[in-house]
Amino acid sequence: MNSLSLSQAIMVGVPNNIPPKKEIDPLINHAPKRKDILSKDEKIIALKNALRYFPATQHKELAVDFLAELKQFGRIYMHRFRPDYEMFARAINEYPGKSLQAKAIMLMIQNNLDPAVAQHPHELITYGGNGSVFQNWIQYRLTMKYLAEMTDEQTLVMYSGHPMGLFPSHKNAPRVVVSNGMMIPNYSKPDDWEKFNAMGVTQFGQMTAGSYMYIGPQGIVHGTTITVLNAIRRIEKKSGENGRKLFLTAGLGGMSGAQPKAGNIAGVITVCAEINSKAVETRHQQGWVDEIIQDLDALCARILKAKAENEVVSIAFLGNIVDVWEKFDKENIFVDLGSDQTSLHNPWAGGYYPVGITLEEANEMMAVDPEKFKKIVQESLRTHSNSINKHAKKGTYFFDYGNAFLLEASRAGAAVMAENNIDFKYPSYVQDILGPLCFDFGFGPFRWVCASGNPDDLKKTDEIACLVLEEMIKNSPSEIQEQMADNIKWIKGAQENKLVVGSQARILYADAEGRMLIADAFNKAIAKGEIGEIILGRDHHDVSGTDSPYRETSNIYDGSKFTADMAIQNVIGDSFRGATWVSIHNGGGVGWGEVINGGFGMLLDGSPEAERNLKMMLHWDVNNGVARRNWARNENAVFAIKRAMEAEPLLKVTLANEVDEALLSGLNV
Ligand SMILES: NC(=O)c1ccc[n+]([C@@H]2O[C@H](COP(=O)([O-])OP(=O)(O)OC[C@H]3O[C@@H](n4cnc5c(N)ncnc54)[C@H](O)[C@@H]3O)[C@@H](O)[C@H]2O)c1
Repeated sequence: MNSLSLSQAIMVGVPNNIPPKKEIDPLINHAPKRKDILSKDEKIIALKNALRYFPATQHKELAVDFLAELKQFGRIYMHRFRPDYEMFARAINEYPGKSLQAKAIMLMIQNNLDPAVAQHPHELITYGGNGSVFQNWIQYRLTMKYLAEMTDEQTLVMYSGHPMGLFPSHKNAPRVVVSNGMMIPNYSKPDDWEKFNAMGVTQFGQMTAGSYMYIGPQGIVHGTTITVLNAIRRIEKKSGENGRKLFLTAGLGGMSGAQPKAGNIAGVITVCAEINSKAVETRHQQGWVDEIIQDLDALCARILKAKAENEVVSIAFLGNIVDVWEKFDKENIFVDLGSDQTSLHNPWAGGYYPVGITLEEANEMMAVDPEKFKKIVQESLRTHSNSINKHAKKGTYFFDYGNAFLLEASRAGAAVMAENNIDFKYPSYVQDILGPLCFDFGFGPFRWVCASGNPDDLKKTDEIACLVLEEMIKNSPSEIQEQMADNIKWIKGAQENKLVVGSQARILYADAEGRMLIADAFNKAIAKGEIGEIILGRDHHDVSGTDSPYRETSNIYDGSKFTADMAIQNVIGDSFRGATWVSIHNGGGVGWGEVINGGFGMLLDGSPEAERNLKMMLHWDVNNGVARRNWARNENAVFAIKRAMEAEPLLKVTLANEVDEALLSGLNV
């Protein structure tokens, strides 16, 4: 196998002979053992499901191996089928195949599984503890082979990691259609994921894991910077005081690892607690956090020094976040800004480590005594919240970072509810910041990947994007001048901030007009041979892609935040407007059953077809959500959609009439 070229290895697909077993590599970060949830009969179904990928002659040997995996890990990953070649995104022309679009998707899949990028690469998990690209290695192998074989007259259909197969379609259809974790609504509780994932029939695709659009912590860092920056602006406006601010948060994982870098860019002192030493080391080595401290007294001393010297610094505290909140309270260290990005969308299976026990003890307990584990997680959340409440009384601005912290804390009975007992005591970052300042205007996490893998291409695209924005800001209305200026500053600093982990990618918040103009400029540069092909995409965490009542759509107040029409409409609309691939997921970000989200990928190859597609699809991909936010009477979205209608006469959106509240208050309701 080792002697095969990448192309040959991909074309093997399911190997004729069973490869030797692979030892578990202790140097790699592995997914925690999942709980033993299947009945005896369901375990038999899980084994039959796994074995159906292989000829009957191999079943005897593989059944024993897969059962051992099910017992040891709670899942069948088929570790022995993990390919021997190195996993990372190659240049697009290194992939075998007949379709350039399919090659672009192979590149993105390999990036999502790159050990430098993925959280638990050998369990095919990219981020968020359970955000899977595939359920097992055979699905990966089959998918790569299909992509290498397919033409632009076919579409590959992906059911939660399982490649159902190639179906005839046409050149302008998506090459791949992905759905992840779509369930009958009544079967969307966390334990349903545990059960049906263990049986091998569904997976949690997170947002950009199962949609092949993850670009490392950079994917989130721009949004995090915007959030921290605007939170600081809020505090400063209120207090009138401009000293160096302290930001306390938790998590240095897939997405949360962006926080210290964002803190540095926003100019604050960041303390980010992380219980897993592997995550701390990875982020430190990658330059995403400046210093590591494991002693609480040393941490306090370091902060006082940073405050005294007006330093911008990011510190990883190796330990539990709850201990830090409590220590800072005791030592009277004032926290200006507080948040949390532990994986509370996945509280019972390793997303949140309770205070008072070690990481290893927690990993053991969640598998062998899940009931007890649940209890101590909830206790920890109550202690955690009590401590935050004490800080908030002293003036800390705490916000929920879209990780279901307040939701799970409230379910644990913590004192986080507002007086009306409906809302939370603290805002979500979307309610206060990203919603009104970005999503309602159409600004969201647009991104691109240079398919050549050449850093020079990334530099050129940064320059192109910057020129486009600098031109746009000259005529931008005052309502979006600050956003445009922040984005120009971001793209100018992008090279210096060394954001790339994995593929040569860039994130840049932009509105519909900005996304279309930047993409068009890229396509023209490709046509002229100035840069190689570009893969466009975005986070699902965006204007239109995601219906999530406690996160992306938490600033929708007309009652529709519990509906998911927008996300479904979005993915359908993208698919017939020229997307290269589309995806729709249950349960990214805040958890299984709590959100529906979708996204796309689009290959720009410099052709006139790509130009037509990018204009049509990006216009819809943003304005769908702006229209919905406008219908929910969000002021900035009303402004943005009227402006979009002026620019595009074919766009005609239903506008809401304002209702006089005084009129309603007079009614006997
Ligand atoms: N706000 C946003 O824009 C946004 C974006 C992406 C993700 N999220 C959410 O943030 C959460 C984190 O995402 P991620 O991809 O980084 O997940 P992750 O699982 O990769 O990282 C979370 C980290 O938190 C650490 N941790 C857990 N409990 C801890 C504790 N008590 N003390 C210290 N460290 C602890 C874990 O060891 C882990 O490394 C998820 O719920 C995700 O959905 C929010």
